[in-house]
Amino acid sequence: MTTNRTFTMIKPDAVANGHIGAIINDITAAGFKIVAMKYTKLTEETAGQFYAVHAARPFYKDLVSFMSSGPIVAMILEKDNAIEDFRTLIGATNPADAAEGTIRNKYAVSIDANAVHGSDSDENAQIEGDFFFTAAERF
Ligand code: CMP
Repeated sequence: MTTNRTFTMIKPDAVANGHIGAIINDITAAGFKIVAMKYTKLTEETAGQFYAVHAARPFYKDLVSFMSSGPIVAMILEKDNAIEDFRTLIGATNPADAAEGTIRNKYAVSIDANAVHGSDSDENAQIEGDFFFTAAERF
């Protein structure tokens, strides 16, 4: 099923470096509507659950540690072709490879501290949105 929603987090590096406002501005200027938004903090346990799909990867431990190191902003976003358009807006996972003008090019620090998360499929957008938001918290 193709939907018009994606899920994102502004990661601890971008929150700590004061980029929440600029990133939300870039997201809404690109035509995304915010369906749900939450300022919160992951624990090692909840970060581990969120990234369970990467549990076997060598970077998993560092990823979980980093993602639970400070507050994040979780959002569900809506736009036609949301998954693909959002991934274009944020740029490559490694900021060293992210195209000029993308969110990761402008605000990311490293491959772990890469400013934002973006869902890679409709199915994962649904799962990830459900992880943070109840039905009553989105509309
Ligand atoms: P994200 O899109 O949130 O999903 C998994 C995260 O793992 C990714 O962003 C990166 O921040 C982090 N990561 C660290 N090393 C790697 C790697 N070699 N390949 C992919 N993701 C990595």
